[in-house]
Amino acid sequence: MPTLQFAWNEEMSVGIPEVDEDHKRFISLINDLNRSIMSRMASSEIKQYLQAIIDDAEKHFAKEEVLFKEWQYPDAEGHAKIHAKVLHTLDEIKKQFIPYGHDSDWVDAGVKIKKLLVDHILKEDMKYADYYRNSVLPK
Ligand SMILES: [Fe+2]
Ligand SMILES: [Fe+2]
Repeated sequence: MPTLQFAWNEEMSVGIPEVDEDHKRFISLINDLNRSIMSRMASSEIKQYLQAIIDDAEKHFAKEEVLFKEWQYPDAEGHAKIHAKVLHTLDEIKKQFIPYGHDSDWVDAGVKIKKLLVDHILKEDMKYADYYRNSVLPK
């Protein structure tokens, strides 16, 4: 059984408190989703938890993109494209949720969502964390 509950750790910090707060909320929403899957809630309820993640991700990505403009972040466009891809993948997972008949499908989806969002923080958001530290943060 994959570990579905996880906690924030310093390794995930981008060094920008308001962004870290958003990412911590992501994690708690992902944990809520996975808890709803593991405790076999009704699929309509599980879907609501998934929708909460999608809504939150949309808002968070938009906020990051505003910050990129403020910082004149050189890879703003590339990062925004990746955000669009992540949202598309979340949407695909949501569409596939409807015919799910087996518990294992839900668990797979939960693991996929967790990986998608955590990987995004660790691989992509960390790139602007470096830029922010070196080029934006007042010395
Ligand atoms: Fe982020
Ligand atoms: Fe991002």
